[in-house]
Amino acid sequence: MSALTPQLHANGKLRHFLTLEGLDAALLHEIIDRASGFLGVSDQAVKKVPLCRGKVIANLFFETSTRTRTTFELAAKRLSADVLNLNISTSATAKGETLLDTLRNLEAMHVDMFVVRHATSGAAHFIADHAAPHVSVVNAGDGRHAHPTQAMLDMLTIHRHKPDFTQLRVAIIGDILHSRVARSQIIALHTLGVPEVRVIGPRTLIPAQAEEALGVRVCYDLREGLRDVDVVIMLRLQRERMSSALLPSEHEYFRLYGLTEERLAVAHPEAIVMHPGPINRGVEMDSQVADGERSVILEQVSNGIAVRMAVMSMCLGNQNLQHSQSAGATDGQ
Ligand code: CP
Repeated sequence: MSALTPQLHANGKLRHFLTLEGLDAALLHEIIDRASGFLGVSDQAVKKVPLCRGKVIANLFFETSTRTRTTFELAAKRLSADVLNLNISTSATAKGETLLDTLRNLEAMHVDMFVVRHATSGAAHFIADHAAPHVSVVNAGDGRHAHPTQAMLDMLTIHRHKPDFTQLRVAIIGDILHSRVARSQIIALHTLGVPEVRVIGPRTLIPAQAEEALGVRVCYDLREGLRDVDVVIMLRLQRERMSSALLPSEHEYFRLYGLTEERLAVAHPEAIVMHPGPINRGVEMDSQVADGERSVILEQVSNGIAVRMAVMSMCLGNQNLQHSQSAGATDGQ
């Protein structure tokens, strides 16, 4: 986390949402509670609330995305904000304009929030460090570092099925080494009081000293790692972030770590199965599991809209609070 850009205001409220590091359980529960309140908006005849009317949100996706980009856009629209989707491949950054010049131009259009996805770890922090004081930045995934809204939509999904985090065993399976999702999930699970987090995968895809560095139990054997767990989180193989051949083949990976109904049988009988998407069927899990009754994968996507509404409305609402506080201070002088 950048020393230049604290993501909380002095009053402890969210200013930016860049990482889950340093956020306490009360704040994570506030996000879950607020998001739970937004779930019903999807069932309304008019799927909108006026909380962010008059605000302008710019989606800056420098890396591919399906779920995250579209659910951020839908979430912003459901909050009644105006949304700009910058097409990076045809924008001025593709013509040589610096990122900071692009930011300054968007700020001149009175943008109130940047939602940023970037292949480089730290990109969202960099933008937050250089954004105008009234602008909030939300990290939509930066390199291997963090994907905090994904982790929070996963926490909302878990909470709806297993309300007491302090009673859970959670297993995260696959490419932990390259996964910003796993890093953010592990922080969230620990903050919310989950007593046992296991990571399972081949040695080449688990960070060195993961037990000490991440505070997790490491298992190289899928059957051993899945035993009695309440939540099974599968991860995508991040081939785009692998600099060398870390796997013999996808066939071999599925043979050792692919989730099948038979392998899932050792988990708790009411265990849920999650995946942040996009799924590679026949590599990370087979279709029977992906489409089976324990899968909550599509619920995760729906919950993503509510969580993103929660995070954006908190940051933008706190901007109003800050403005009114500073106006009050000026009035009083
Ligand atoms: N889970 C996730 O980040 O998916 P996308 O890459 O489709 O946004």
